[in-house]
Amino acid sequence: MTERTFSIIKPDATRRNLTGKVNAVIEDAGLRIVAQRRIQMTEAQAKTFYEVHAERPFYGELVAFMMSAPVVVQVLEGDNAVAKYREVMGATNPAQAAAGTIRALYAESVGENSVHGSDSLENAKLEMAQFFTEADIVG
Ligand code: CMP
Repeated sequence: MTERTFSIIKPDATRRNLTGKVNAVIEDAGLRIVAQRRIQMTEAQAKTFYEVHAERPFYGELVAFMMSAPVVVQVLEGDNAVAKYREVMGATNPAQAAAGTIRALYAESVGENSVHGSDSLENAKLEMAQFFTEADIVG
């Protein structure tokens, strides 16, 4: 089934000029980038986005990291896009990520792990709505 998922290319990757290389892995996997914008996250945006992790000990660090350099927010479309993108990203901890995945190739640590991808279709819709309107998405 054709789905849309939400992706962020994180500050550790934009800082190292890896946007194009990350996008190449995404496109080679058969996912289409149907919306994309480079932004500087505000504190309010970062806090809202990671609200589910507010009680975790790394929340403050995570919010600060997401504001530390520009990020690229994206909508990806394709067959089973949510699960497929999670496969393409690899495990949260790059030390456990399968070879060839974005995190195995580029991530620096469990915190600075180059990309975010939605973990469910429901969260994908909520996350997309934080950064894009339907008019921004050209499939
Ligand atoms: P992400 O998929 O964006 O969702 C939550 C993020 O929290 C995760 O990627 C990591 O970047 C971050 N994270 C998870 N575990 C840790 C940790 N132990 N220390 C710091 N950051 C973490």
